[in-house]
Amino acid sequence: MIQTIPTTPIEGQKPGTSGLRKKTAQFRALRYLENFVQSIWTGIGGVAGKTLVLGGDGRAFNVDATQTILKMAAASGAAKVIVGQNGLLSTPAASNLIRTRGADGGIILSASHNPGGDDGDFGVKYNTANGGPAPESVTNAIFKASEAVTEYHILDSADLDLGALGTTTLGDMTVEVVDPVADYATLMEQLFDFDAIRALMTSGFTLRFDAMHAITGPYAREILVNRLGAPESAVMNATPLPDFGGGHPDPNPVWAHELMGLMMGDDAPDFGAASDGDGDRNMIVGRGTYVTPSDSLAVIAANAHVAPGYARGLAGVARSMPTSAALDRVAQARDLPCYATPTGWKFFGNLLDAGRATLCGEESAGTGSDHVREKDGLWAVLMWLNILAAKRLSVAEVMAAHWAEFGRNYYSRHDYEGVDKTAAESLIADLRAQLDKLADLPAGPLVVSEAEDFSYTDPVDGSVTAAQGIQIMFEGGARLVLRLSGTGTDGATLRVYMENFESADFGMDPQAALVDVIAAAEALAGIKTRLGRETPDVVT
Ligand code: G6P
Ligand code: ZN
Repeated sequence: MIQTIPTTPIEGQKPGTSGLRKKTAQFRALRYLENFVQSIWTGIGGVAGKTLVLGGDGRAFNVDATQTILKMAAASGAAKVIVGQNGLLSTPAASNLIRTRGADGGIILSASHNPGGDDGDFGVKYNTANGGPAPESVTNAIFKASEAVTEYHILDSADLDLGALGTTTLGDMTVEVVDPVADYATLMEQLFDFDAIRALMTSGFTLRFDAMHAITGPYAREILVNRLGAPESAVMNATPLPDFGGGHPDPNPVWAHELMGLMMGDDAPDFGAASDGDGDRNMIVGRGTYVTPSDSLAVIAANAHVAPGYARGLAGVARSMPTSAALDRVAQARDLPCYATPTGWKFFGNLLDAGRATLCGEESAGTGSDHVREKDGLWAVLMWLNILAAKRLSVAEVMAAHWAEFGRNYYSRHDYEGVDKTAAESLIADLRAQLDKLADLPAGPLVVSEAEDFSYTDPVDGSVTAAQGIQIMFEGGARLVLRLSGTGTDGATLRVYMENFESADFGMDPQAALVDVIAAAEALAGIKTRLGRETPDVVT
């Protein structure tokens, strides 16, 4: 029986950089999830007759939310939902399923790299038929619907058994429970030279992949161990847990410290990698060598042709604006179109769909290609393994060769987390107000050459997205970007991105190489006094 439950709008259901993210407790609160899901149906023009993909990263509330969404889809007339076994799907695997099954869209339950569990975060993200995150026109429509929702519809029925593979029905709707790993693993096998990687594995090469107790454990086991012949011990923290073992499943040197300790130690394996809560981010590290996401993107752009799926070459490349310009140097040398978009994977969708870009990446540890419409953690790991298998060089040697050819963009991001929202917003607003007066003025030890509030005109559909971050160029080529995070759930997070190009000295500590830009940022923005913070919380 279909129940119609009266409700009233709940404030703040505005999707951010990547879906709606809130505390798990808030999502569990009465009508919170239901209001938002009903608003998704409204925002996408109704779900009647449609086919959706559904799955999440296994964090607390994943299974309960899956059951609720299934019943709500059935009540609103959806034709079919393809759901990952036990409600699980990594974000790239969900994107792939939407595409290969020709679904109308999908819902991914994740707060990505944010901690999970009863005290952590939960999230709901809608992806469209191309497999990518919904564009702003759709997320705005969902938000608008959430401000006007008066009732929701839900089937009054028992929970489904999500552990059993196969097809069943819920009311008039078909539900197909699928193996979350199989199709994705097959796709990877088509893109990369598994024979070459297997040969590398048997040549004494050692690796460690850290699944951070999140979704990629089962994927890494199937691909790295079962299909590529790595030993079982190559995958650490491989069992997904609802609270990620109490960890912060963000693959960077700060949060993946267990892996970093190993990679910087005496008995380090040749190669290390990690992925985040929902499997779309990656960290790449060689023995004693951390590779920044911006450098990793540039290395992949320069070498992707060694992988069979990219042997035909790249149509173009794209990065988010705050990502370093290391990619641009490769693009220039190889005569490839290169795009800079606002932060957020959804901005790559049109470029990928239109065949203008093959590879995309972000400084926030996301890299991917046109094989799906999300960034893809294990894809990046396999791409690196394919490159190492083809070149038979160490990660450190690959980096040295890359910098020798293209120069090095020293790069760092400083994050000030959980700061006062009003103080952070006024810091940005005050900078924005000065932008047109900054050119030619000194900023600490540097002189400003150009200053802008980044605005993006999508080259495919002409849509304009303004106010995407303050970008300041300095004489001599250094660059500074400041923006507020769109994914946090506590107060505000100020991100300060800095880079400086160097053509000869590749062995500096990035913080030392960037000391002038760091001083210029302080001189321009007054971070210490305005936010009351002496040092950033996270330096990557
Ligand atoms: C998510 C998105 C990324 C984006 C990142 C930025 O991970 O999927 O595309 O780069 O958020 O987060 P921020 O906190 O900087 O807004
Ligand atoms: Zn993620």
